Amino acid sequence: MTKRLLKTLKGEPTEGVPFWFMRQAGRYLPEYRALRKDQGSFLDLVYSPEHAIEVTLQPVRRYGMDAAILFSDILVIPDALGQRVSFVSGRGPVLDPVRDRDALSDLSLNKLHEKLDPVYETVSGLSKALGDDVALIGFAGAPWTVATYMVEGEGSKDHGAAKEWSYRDEEGFKALIDLLVDATSSYLIRQVEAGAEVLQIFDTWAGSLSETGFDKWCVAPTRKIIDNVRGAGVDVPILGFPKGAGSLYERYVIETGVSGVSLDTGVALNWAASHLQDKVIVQGNLDPRLVVAGGDEMIRQATRILKAFAGGGHIFNLGHGFVPETPPENVAA
Ligand code: CP3
Repeated sequence: MTKRLLKTLKGEPTEGVPFWFMRQAGRYLPEYRALRKDQGSFLDLVYSPEHAIEVTLQPVRRYGMDAAILFSDILVIPDALGQRVSFVSGRGPVLDPVRDRDALSDLSLNKLHEKLDPVYETVSGLSKALGDDVALIGFAGAPWTVATYMVEGEGSKDHGAAKEWSYRDEEGFKALIDLLVDATSSYLIRQVEAGAEVLQIFDTWAGSLSETGFDKWCVAPTRKIIDNVRGAGVDVPILGFPKGAGSLYERYVIETGVSGVSLDTGVALNWAASHLQDKVIVQGNLDPRLVVAGGDEMIRQATRILKAFAGGGHIFNLGHGFVPETPPENVAA
């Protein structure tokens, strides 16, 4: 096998450190903006296999990453469950909020795969298009992060509505999380059946939870998803990204069963090397803002990360996704 990323995830030595970047496809690339302009809405682009394949391949063609990440979004799950989802330019995602137990009756797994079929078609097309060196990463949002958008109806700073529901009616909120566990598990299994070689579970807003909330709404659902996926006979590596988890990163690694963990920019390198990298592969964690600034400091910090993780399994990546103002030449550097 020649794919460096898969070798690293198996604990095998590689020549050089494999790399890819969160949001490696997207608005910082002129070729993405050009294609996006002609394509109607963001979700139309996501549900068009021809265009989603092209957008996925754009950064790989330009820079030669070790992995391509499926071009899609975490909010296709609420969309496929029947919630109304749209992406408004300059504002981000907008959803008809689900605020209580009664509203759950509007959501259903019945049309999940029918709705997500174009995504599976994209994965299968990519799996044929990628050569011998580039691994294909499938992904989904973790239940807590997806729930924050479903409950708030948009992006929010403190996820207050989702938290309040979880405190006021824990059982009702758990019914939403359980629905997301079921949907996400079968979504990920289908991606692997279509050709995904690695999975990543994005829990972007894990850092806003209390310690108790983290166990209930981040660790337990992620563990259930991984158990379900493994139970279906899927053995591909699974990366988890509990962004902002701080010292709880260690509990996440021990208790969820992830094969690797994606580190946000705030995680201390030496602590991660001694407390996380001894258990799983680590991925990360260059500050995406450093890639906007570029120059010597970017190279110094990238070097510092490579040195800190040189003693074990490491996939070089960012601490969060590229922002639209990233100069493409800094990515090349
Ligand atoms: O290259 C890749 O990383 C693959 C594609 C990908 C996108 N979103 C494309 C996208 C992935 C893996 C995601 C995950 C995602 N989506 C997350 C988790 C990771 C993270 O970045 O925290 C979250 C929280 C979302 C939800 C989301 N999608 C928001 C809040 C927004 C609006 C903000 C923004 O950046 O515009 C999106 C839209 C989105 N998803 C875009 C892209 C390329 C921009 C849409 C456009 O082109 O207009």
